[in-house]
Amino acid sequence: MTTTKLLLLIFTIFSSLHYFSVSSFEYQVGGNKGWVVPPANDTRIYNYWASENRFQVGDTVRFRYKKDSVMEVTEEEYKKCNSSHPSFFSNTGNTVYKLDHSGPFYFVSGVSGHCEKGQKIIIKVMAPEEDYPLHGGGKKSAGSRPAVLPLGGSELAACLQLVLSYVASRVFY
Ligand SMILES: *[C@@H]1O[C@H](CO)[C@@H](O)[C@H](O)[C@H]1NC(C)=O
Ligand SMILES: *[C@@H]1O[C@H](CO)[C@@H](O)[C@H](O)[C@H]1NC(C)=O
Repeated sequence: MTTTKLLLLIFTIFSSLHYFSVSSFEYQVGGNKGWVVPPANDTRIYNYWASENRFQVGDTVRFRYKKDSVMEVTEEEYKKCNSSHPSFFSNTGNTVYKLDHSGPFYFVSGVSGHCEKGQKIIIKVMAPEEDYPLHGGGKKSAGSRPAVLPLGGSELAACLQLVLSYVASRVFY
């Protein structure tokens, strides 16, 4: 193995270590399109997007938009698109909201008429026990949480040790 390859390997290991240490995840609402009025023939894009993700306590959602706003409201207000008493309001164009408890969060656009056109979303945050079934319990499928491998800390450490000792043996002997 050449030195370059070795360095690359070590670099890869350390960058993946960093990766594993990140326990929360940031989602951009609506993906690349961001937070906009949905097309008239496709008003359910946000809740469809939300249903494809598994939100956990501590994750954040980022809303990106232009000349718009985002509000957190109650379920009733969400249904009626009533934005007169939001519990959270932002119109900075780039809003990061931390999902700090499990259960549903209701967001709507604060711009008149936008919520009615479908610019609203329910984000359901899973309870911790839903996400980590006890050992031996019914195995729930891991779903599609992005970029997180099902490796526990100790397994990871063991694996790393193995790789590092392999690397060391190639370097020093
Ligand atoms: C909505 O209309 C656009 C074109 O106006 C089309 O490309 C798109 O596939 C349509 N979406 C749905 C869900 O019908
Ligand atoms: C909107 O909600 C507020 C309370 O949050 C209520 O006082 C008001 O009557 C509601 N308006 C409509 C049109 O439902």
